[in-house]
Amino acid sequence: MKTMYGKSLVTVDSLSLSDVDSLFQKADIMRKIVTEKGATDSLKGKVMAALFYEPSSRTFSSFITAMQRLGGGIVPLNGMSHTSVVKGETLEDTVRVFSNYADAIVMRHPDPGSVELASRFATKPVINAGDGINEHPTQALIDLYTIQQQLGRIDGLHILMIGDLGHYRPTNSLSKLLALYPNVTLSLATPSQVPIQDGVRKYLQQKNVTFAEYTDFKDLIPTADVLYVTRVKKEYMSEELYKKVKGSYIVDKSVVDKMKKKSLVMHCLPRIDEIHTDVDSDPRSIYLTHQVANGLYVRMAILEAILKNK
Ligand code: CP
Repeated sequence: MKTMYGKSLVTVDSLSLSDVDSLFQKADIMRKIVTEKGATDSLKGKVMAALFYEPSSRTFSSFITAMQRLGGGIVPLNGMSHTSVVKGETLEDTVRVFSNYADAIVMRHPDPGSVELASRFATKPVINAGDGINEHPTQALIDLYTIQQQLGRIDGLHILMIGDLGHYRPTNSLSKLLALYPNVTLSLATPSQVPIQDGVRKYLQQKNVTFAEYTDFKDLIPTADVLYVTRVKKEYMSEELYKKVKGSYIVDKSVVDKMKKKSLVMHCLPRIDEIHTDVDSDPRSIYLTHQVANGLYVRMAILEAILKNK
């Protein structure tokens, strides 16, 4: 992709290293603007519709705040239960309609591929805010930006992801984004009942990423630069499967004590019980601080890249 202007962001596959670098430079500028002035009028006159067919705290709120801090307008629908979707309106018709009101549509939906479908029918750019168990590109960009900000580089790092990786869309997108960096080592630890998706595995193989799959993670802790913890996605599995995998991996102080001094514990939240609260105050834990704060700056950068033609 030469430029993100006017384009949908459905999958991280469409992003080049230069797109990512440009977004990160823009996110730095957004951080400065928010810290020093609070807001800018860079997207004055533009409107963003947020169509969230699934619950969200962070993604919804940070996109709304991002657009407001860029001086733009919003159509905020956090849940579609009071829209004509309940009368049976199709996704295709809904996004065609909202394309008349807004300059960009941010969409979350439980079905994998739904945002790609929407992008074919919308006449305005559509941004994927999570489509089922498939992808969550903006979260992965936030996570990557946070790693670079905190550790000063991506190249050469050992990134360890643990949890229900079979259903976790942010780690699907982040694993693929890490393929842009030649010397990353990726360790993926997930219970045997919820292996990583074939599509993700094939993508990493095609891109020659150094990666390995595990069912236990404890031996990998001392060499990890980043420990990325994920939630078991109860909403995407049967009660029976949930009972089998819940509580598989728990990160507590005894785990973090074995990590490098300069390393990171990340989680894109919500956290249930997979990271004990005794880890929260460790300086390496950034899931409730930098990782959340950067959501605003990176989403401001994404909106400006898509909506503003320089
Ligand atoms: N990280 C994330 O996507 O959080 P929400 O589900 O609250 O948006």
